[in-house]
Amino acid sequence: MTVLTEEKDTARETALHIEGLSLSIGATPLLADVSLRVAHGETVGLVGESGSGKSLTSRTALGMLPRGATATGEVRAAGLDVLTADRAALRDLRRTRVSMIFQDPRSSINPVRRVGHYLTEGLRARGTPADEAIERVLELLDQVGIRDPQGALRRYPHEFSGGMLQRVMIAGALSTEPRMLLADEPTTALDVTTQAEVVTLLKRMQRIHGTGMLFVTHDLDLAAAICDRIYVMYAGRIVEEAASGRLFAAPSHPYTKALLEASPSVRGEKAVIKAIEGRPRALSEAPEGCAFGDRCPLADKNCATQVPVLRPHGTSLSACLRPEQVTP
Ligand SMILES: Nc1ncnc2c1ncn2[C@@H]1O[C@H](COP(=O)(O)OP(=O)(O)O)[C@@H](O)[C@H]1O
Ligand SMILES: [Mg+2]
Repeated sequence: MTVLTEEKDTARETALHIEGLSLSIGATPLLADVSLRVAHGETVGLVGESGSGKSLTSRTALGMLPRGATATGEVRAAGLDVLTADRAALRDLRRTRVSMIFQDPRSSINPVRRVGHYLTEGLRARGTPADEAIERVLELLDQVGIRDPQGALRRYPHEFSGGMLQRVMIAGALSTEPRMLLADEPTTALDVTTQAEVVTLLKRMQRIHGTGMLFVTHDLDLAAAICDRIYVMYAGRIVEEAASGRLFAAPSHPYTKALLEASPSVRGEKAVIKAIEGRPRALSEAPEGCAFGDRCPLADKNCATQVPVLRPHGTSLSACLRPEQVTP
């Protein structure tokens, strides 16, 4: 019976479904009421300045909570209820159905093991025979643009450049044909040319396998180029959700607008780059009411007394008391 139910769920399930996620360490809140969805085959952006909670959110999707953290709400990744799952179920999830690409490949690949071992372990864990796993991985290395795949298997991580190691990590993330891919600033450490190649590769892989992708970045321009839908995060909360085109044509949160103005290429070469005044806030040090209130040109006294909830504004969702005043 259980098997049947699981299969039925799989057919309908979104690749990632986070509902009302709040996370804290002791008395320090880090995320508040985060909800987001990624459908199969969909590319969803999660953007915001450094410290807004993007990595915490994406790691929580894999059940990787910071030490001592408690989480409430619901997180379902590839059908698994992550917050209540035991270690074995989480390990199985990470090895077989949900992959993550981390910002810095060097800190997430074991430096003393050969790349071939790293790349085949997911497949081996699924019971794929060694020779088949190697064959599959060689194919992937070729697809991600590693010139000598056979040689690469015998090498150690330090023998690769940053860009090449990132490609190795992407090959590893894709080796199990995951239903969901969490890409946390996967190209931030790379030069612009490599960045473009890696993005093209991710999109191609995603199309082939119908993988849902959460693309985490502080780079709005990049998000605009590749995402169907975007969530904007500030101080541990989602403050806007919109289709990519809509977000850029008509932002409905002052923070999104400020991010757009601070991002030169979205606005064309002649745009004056305006830095956002003040510094980003952590949820625990955010002002009363709207966390963006102390940096917001539209804020008035009402903004200091109530935390705005996400509400529809046109086709977007905005957590602002007066989204109609946010002009493009
Ligand atoms: N392990 C941790 N312990 C305590 N605070 C943390 C931990 N990880 C992240 N934080 C805090 O949570 C906030 C969000 O961090 P993070 O998700 O890494 O932001 P982003 O990825 O958007 O740059 C930051 O204020 C950060 O200092
Ligand atoms: Mg981060």
